[in-house]
Amino acid sequence: GNAAVDEGDPRDFVGKMERANKRCVIFYGSQTGTAEEYAIRIAKEAKSRFGISSLVCDPEEYDMNLLDQVPETSVVIFVMATYGEGEPTDNANALMEMLNETEPAFSEGGDRLENLNYVVFGLGNKTYEFYNEVARKLDKRLGELGAKRIGDRGEGDDDKSMEEDYLAWKDPMWEQFAQRLGVEEGGAGDVADFVVTEITDHPAEKVYHGELSPRALMAASGQNTPVGAYGLKNPYPAPVLASKELFAVNGERNCVHIEFDLTGSGMSYQHGDHVGIWPSNPDVEVDRMLSVLGLDSEGRRNAIIDIESLDPALAKVPFPTPATYDAVFRHYLDISAVASRQTIAFLARYAPNDAAKEKLTIWGSDRNAYAQEVDGPALKLAEVLQAAVGDSAHPPFNSTRWSIPFDRIVSSVPRLQPRYYSISSSSKLHPSALHVTAVVLKYQSTASPFHHHEPRWVFGLSTNFILNVKMAHSGQNSPALESENGLEAVTMKKLPSYKIAGPRNNYVKENVYKVPIHVRRSTFRLPTSPKVPIIMIGPGTGVAPFRGFVQERVALARKAIEKNGPDALKDWAPMYLFYGCRKSTEDFLYKDEWPDYEKELKGVFRMKTAFSREMTKPDGSKVYVQDLIHGMRSELAPLILEKRAYIYICGDAKSMSKSVEEKLMNMLAEAKGGKPEVEGAKELKMLKERNRLMTDVWS
Ligand code: 2AM
Repeated sequence: GNAAVDEGDPRDFVGKMERANKRCVIFYGSQTGTAEEYAIRIAKEAKSRFGISSLVCDPEEYDMNLLDQVPETSVVIFVMATYGEGEPTDNANALMEMLNETEPAFSEGGDRLENLNYVVFGLGNKTYEFYNEVARKLDKRLGELGAKRIGDRGEGDDDKSMEEDYLAWKDPMWEQFAQRLGVEEGGAGDVADFVVTEITDHPAEKVYHGELSPRALMAASGQNTPVGAYGLKNPYPAPVLASKELFAVNGERNCVHIEFDLTGSGMSYQHGDHVGIWPSNPDVEVDRMLSVLGLDSEGRRNAIIDIESLDPALAKVPFPTPATYDAVFRHYLDISAVASRQTIAFLARYAPNDAAKEKLTIWGSDRNAYAQEVDGPALKLAEVLQAAVGDSAHPPFNSTRWSIPFDRIVSSVPRLQPRYYSISSSSKLHPSALHVTAVVLKYQSTASPFHHHEPRWVFGLSTNFILNVKMAHSGQNSPALESENGLEAVTMKKLPSYKIAGPRNNYVKENVYKVPIHVRRSTFRLPTSPKVPIIMIGPGTGVAPFRGFVQERVALARKAIEKNGPDALKDWAPMYLFYGCRKSTEDFLYKDEWPDYEKELKGVFRMKTAFSREMTKPDGSKVYVQDLIHGMRSELAPLILEKRAYIYICGDAKSMSKSVEEKLMNMLAEAKGGKPEVEGAKELKMLKERNRLMTDVWS
C-alpha cells in the first residue's frame, strides 16, 4: 500500500534522517541489548572515522516499509541477533515478516529496493543449529530485492568470539563504506558523548547510590512507592528469605542455594523461568579503579556527579544520575569484566608515559599479545592500566594516576548487566519464594604481565556476590574479615568482599538483606498433562530448573491425591531425571530432597545418577549422564517414539548437551533402523521443531 507520511511522523526514519542531516541509520534486532550495544558502537565509529552521524533505531518503532525511500547517498545498517532456533528477536519480527512477503509493499508502491545501500552484522551462537539464521536470511532477501550490500556480511559467535569476529569484520567493511559513500577517514576523531559535572548543592535523597530506578531511589529515602511492574527496567529489591551452602569442597568449590521473598511484590514466575540478579562489584575492584583514576580519597570518591548526553539518540547516559564516583564503579559499570581490546586501544592515548602507551597499543591491536597478556590472565580494565605502568596489583593501592576524562570512561566501559539463572523452585510449591542455585565461580588464571608473573585467582562477579549475600544473611563473617587485610582478599586466595549493606535498595533493615532481581519468562516448560512422559537431563547446576519441574509435579500430585485419593497418580507417565556430579558424598545437589520427591511421586519420578569420580566404565573412563541414557535406550526410545515424551536438557552447552544429543540420535536411529547422522538427526530435528526437545544451556 501507499503510506502517506507526514513531516515529523515519529515512525518516519527517513524524514528524521533528512531533518537531522544523518546519512546512516542503524537498526538493531536485540533481545538482551547486545545487538543494540554493537549498533551504538558502529554509530560511534561512523562518527569518529568519517564524521557521519547516524540514527540508531529499534525497528519496531519505525515504519520499515520506508526502506525504499532511503536515498542512494545513505546507508542502512542492520545489527541482527538470532534467537533460539533461528528466530528473529521480538523487535525484528515485523520487519522480517514484511520483507519476506512475496511482494513486499513498500511505501511508494513498489516491491524493490534498488536504491538501498545496506550492511548486515549478525549475532548468533554456534552451539545452536541455526547459526546467524536471521542475519543470513535478511541479507539474502535484501539481495533478492535489489539492494546493494556494502562489504561482506558479518557474523559474530556469542559462544566464543563475538568481539574478535566483530573486530575482524568491521575494518574491511568501513573501507567499502567510505568508497560507496565517497567519504574519507579523519572525521571528528575522539569525540565526547557526555558532559560530566560535579555538583555540590544537591539534595542527598536525590543522589543515586546504586538504586536501579527512580522508584527504587524513592523507596530508599523512605517514600511510599506503587507496588508491581517490576522487571528489567525496574528490578525488585528482594529480601533474602534463606540461604545455605549446598556444598563447599576444600574451600575451593562452593555451591550456594538462596531463596528470595516475593511477598507483596506482585511479581510471579513459572517453573523453567530465569531470574536476573543484579550484582555489584567487589570492594577491591572499586578501590583499584578509583585509585588508578586518582579518585580514591574520601572526598573524591563521594563527590556527586551529573552526566548529560551530548547526543541522546546516539548515546544514552547508561545509568541513573546524579550519582557518586563510588556508586558508579560499585553498582553501574562492569569493571570486573576482562578488558576489551577496543577499550584498551582507545585508552592508550591517555597513558601517563610512552612505555605504557606502547603496551596498551600492542594489547589493543595485536591479537596474540592480547590473548596471552590480557585475556588469558583475565585482567580487568584497572588491572590492565596497573600492569601497563608496572604498578603492583596488590592492595592497598597506590597507583600511578591516569588522567582519563570521566566521560570517556562512561563511554568505553560497558554497563553492569544482570546475570541470569534458571529458577530452581516451583511457585506452585513455594508460592511466594524464588530459589536460585549457583556454583561459585573461581579459578586460577594463566600467568599475568604483572611483576612476578604469578597466576592469579579470578572470581566470577555475580556468584561471589551471591555467596557474600549468603554469608551476610546467615551471620557469617564476611570473607574480607577472615583475611588479615580485607583488601588483600584476592591475592590471598580468599573470596573478595562486597559492600552488601548500603543505601542501595534499602539494604539491611533488621538484618534483612535485599538483592535486586527480575524474572525473565522462558519457554522451558512441562507439558500440561502429567500423562505425557518426560526425560530431564541436567548434570551439575543443570539440575536447577528440574528441581522446579519436579516440585511443580509434586504440587499437582498433592492436589490430585486430595481430590481423587491415593490412586490418583496411577495413570501418570514416568518422569526421568538424569543427574550427574563428581561424588555422591561431595557435590550431590539437593541430595536429601530427591528421596522425598520420589516418595510423593511414587512410581512416577525416577532419578538416575552418574557419579563421575566414583564410577567407571569397563574401559576405565568416567560415567556421565549420557552413558546412563545410552544404557537405558531400550526403555527410553519407545517413550520418545511411541509415547511422545518431552526431553529437556540443561547445563553445559559445549560438551555435555552435544554428547547427550549424540546419544539420543544413536538411540532413535537404532530404534527406527537407520543411520544416526541421517535418520537419528532427522528425528532429533523433528523433536526440536515440535518443542519436544528443549534446551536451557549455557557456556
Ligand atoms: P567430571 O568433572 O568428573 O568430568 C557436573 O559437573 C558433572 O558433569 C560432573 O560429574 C562432571 O564430571 C560431569 N561432566 C563433565 N563433562 C561432562 C560432559 N562432557 N558430559 C557430561 N557430563 C560431564
